[in-house]
Amino acid sequence: MPDLTLRERRPDDLAVEWRWSHAEVDPEWKLWDGPYFHTQHKTQSLTLAEFMERAAHKPPSSNRKIIALDDVCIGLVTRSEEAPEGGGWWELGIVIYDPAYWGGGLGTRALTLWTATTFAETDAHVITLTTWGGNERMVRAAERAGYRECARIPEARAWNGRRWDSVKLASLHPESH
Ligand SMILES: CC(C)(COP(=O)(O)OP(=O)(O)OC[C@H]1O[C@@H](n2cnc3c(N)ncnc32)[C@H](O)[C@@H]1OP(=O)(O)O)[C@@H](O)C(=O)NCCC(=O)NCCS
Repeated sequence: MPDLTLRERRPDDLAVEWRWSHAEVDPEWKLWDGPYFHTQHKTQSLTLAEFMERAAHKPPSSNRKIIALDDVCIGLVTRSEEAPEGGGWWELGIVIYDPAYWGGGLGTRALTLWTATTFAETDAHVITLTTWGGNERMVRAAERAGYRECARIPEARAWNGRRWDSVKLASLHPESH
């Protein structure tokens, strides 16, 4: 089984990130990752040099890790703390760029690792993930990683000619069970 790790971003990851964020026309991952946002805020298209220049000025953050398959970047995980600071509630995000890697268990593995890392590195008591009713892969992967649906806002998102539920899933700190 290929080795899946979460690690710091390295300079050689930037070309992969740039390809999937700027070079590919209408990449499929954007149809799944909050597509209702992508329609309104078109990402400014950057050249690789511009992308690298911007990245060089961004300070490293412990709230963002590269998903690496046999050490090669295939996506990323993020986290942010819900206000108020120190309140014990964190929200995670995940994307695997290339559809060729979807549906084979990698998302579940990355999410399981990122959840454990977040519980270990932060004061999180509860971690949430937010997606939409059409993203069955995300919902299923989150459930496999120990999350349970905790909120559903009916028909909150307009996308692709119809309305979809916004879905939130939660995982409580293992010691709270
Ligand atoms: C969401 C994402 C991270 C999940 O990772 P993944 O590697 O595809 O997920 P996994 O293979 O671990 O799990 C997917 C589950 O959905 C099931 N599944 C696969 N294809 C499916 C499909 N077309 N429809 C419904 N379920 C599907 C799989 O069988 C699996 O369930 P199982 O473990 O019970 O068999 C990944 O698909 C991705 O990055 N998608 C694009 C960006 C995105 O949607 N990000 C999340 C935004 S909230």
